[in-house]
Amino acid sequence: MTMARTHYAAELNASHLGKTVFVAGWVDHRRDHGGLIFVDVRDRTGLVQIVAEPGNPGFLELDRVRSEYVVGIEGVVRKRPQGMVNPDLASGDVEVVPVAVTVYSTSKTPPFNLSEAETVDESLRLKYRYIDLRRPELTRNLILRNQSLMAIRQFFHRNGFLDIETPSLARSTPEGARDFLVPSRTRPGAFYALPQSPQIFKQLLMVGGLDRYYQIAKAFRDEDLRADRQFEFTQIDVEMSFVDRETILSLMEDMLRDLFLNVLQVELAPFVRMTWHEAMMQYGSDKPDLRAGRPLITLTQAAKGVSWPVLSQARHVVGVLLNDYKPSRKELDQWVAMARDDGAEGLVWLMHEDTGVRCSASKWLVPQDIQVILDAADSKPGDTLLILSGEDFAVYEIAGRLRLSLAKQQGRIESGWRFLWVTEFPLFEWSKEENRLASAHHPFTMPVLADLDRLDSDPLSVRSQAYDVVLNGTELASGSLRIYQPDIQQRIFSALGMSAKEAQNKFGFLLEAFQYGAPPHGGIAFGLDRLLMLMAGTESIRDVIAFPKTARGNDPLMDAPSEVSEHQLAEVHLSLRR
Ligand code: AMO
Repeated sequence: MTMARTHYAAELNASHLGKTVFVAGWVDHRRDHGGLIFVDVRDRTGLVQIVAEPGNPGFLELDRVRSEYVVGIEGVVRKRPQGMVNPDLASGDVEVVPVAVTVYSTSKTPPFNLSEAETVDESLRLKYRYIDLRRPELTRNLILRNQSLMAIRQFFHRNGFLDIETPSLARSTPEGARDFLVPSRTRPGAFYALPQSPQIFKQLLMVGGLDRYYQIAKAFRDEDLRADRQFEFTQIDVEMSFVDRETILSLMEDMLRDLFLNVLQVELAPFVRMTWHEAMMQYGSDKPDLRAGRPLITLTQAAKGVSWPVLSQARHVVGVLLNDYKPSRKELDQWVAMARDDGAEGLVWLMHEDTGVRCSASKWLVPQDIQVILDAADSKPGDTLLILSGEDFAVYEIAGRLRLSLAKQQGRIESGWRFLWVTEFPLFEWSKEENRLASAHHPFTMPVLADLDRLDSDPLSVRSQAYDVVLNGTELASGSLRIYQPDIQQRIFSALGMSAKEAQNKFGFLLEAFQYGAPPHGGIAFGLDRLLMLMAGTESIRDVIAFPKTARGNDPLMDAPSEVSEHQLAEVHLSLRR
């Protein structure tokens, strides 16, 4: 008997009728039907049906198999009888009649049923991830991951990029999350840090003349986990020299276009572009979801003309217009509560009806005032307008979140791939916890040079030459042109409150490298897992990673993190503080 697989399950079809084949895999399902035994055998491509009658070779073996047994079947392909064809299955026109059946392995009753896996606790699924991975959804996601990586690598190869590996044992990098530390055995008391990104290495590669670098790189960040965050994740990391921003943006757009065409057979429209400021004013977010209906409407100017000071004197007045939507009183109350919970002082609603307008602030707004506002919002009968006002720019963010949750609540999220570039992020943000300026991206990001004279007087207004790729409300990638002039770099470090000594201590090697001929350069990194999560249509990056950690950062399969022996600790010169 042949022992080697001749075909995957899903490859078998009517073109194989009468052929002897060898299929192998796991028992998905076994049915006993009027003396006949039907066994669906599963491999990574799908299922194929095996059928045996009493007295047939293999009947006895098939009679005793159970779910998840591992079998190999040599058999002849035949057409399924009329009425038994399964159009949902690639091999659904045919079945295999065994010549010989081998049971390689039995299986204990699995801890969960594969078809019900979605309903079981995730840590149980992760503990038995090797079983979970047999589910067609997960198998498909990992195949998608492979196809995508192939397409991405081919794109970079065709465009003259070099795939260069950078170390995992490194020093603290500048992305601003907590580091994972690795104690050194050979240098007592010293630690490596796992890189939060290859940022510094790729910039050093540019100084080394290795222009056009890319890497599918692991990055490590000890930060709170979420559906789109893992401690360890994969970046498509890119850096180029002697380029302008346009070259980088258009090349990266080409990469994504090529990927979507190859893997999903989807043609992407040219990406929308907006500055960070526009994104905040129109969507109240630096990662706008363009599928969620109309942008926000700035009503500040129009509101100056009304008689109610809550609107006329507010620094910011923002509207969310729901086209053709008539909410219930209960919904309106719920939205007011939602906005309050999110930090808004209040929310005014206007229901624009054919016969007139109902307004939650009709006590204070006279009909002319209401008309002024409806006109400014371009509201039509049937629409509902929600208005937020306040002193802080945060009202835009609150309005943006409201826009998004209402669109979700009302099932108004359009379908499609709405990519955009967000550009000109602020160079700094204010860190409330540390009460100081922090880099919005990282400290090597090139400022907009025209803004540099405000570095000391009004640093928060300095824009950067940074850009993000956003898809359907998720930040997929960040990048920037880099500072390559030591004097500008020094000024940024001091604006960040880093003394020359501290900068020297943290990044001295980079500053020194820049004194030996640094080319102008820039790059970007994509979160590969996030990109695949959206491509696969799943809700969590854990679904596109073979062995992810739980939401609490554990690996229940290997039971990591785990304790180590006193001996191991002593070797790295550590003792535990209990
Ligand atoms: P940044 O820190 O924005 O930029 O990271 C780039 C992209 O990586 C993804 N990402 C993550 N994915 C999963 N889990 C995480 N914990 C996680 N953190 C980030 C996001 C993000 O857009 N060195 C710079 C890039 C550059 O300037 O070239 C960097 O790492 O999709």
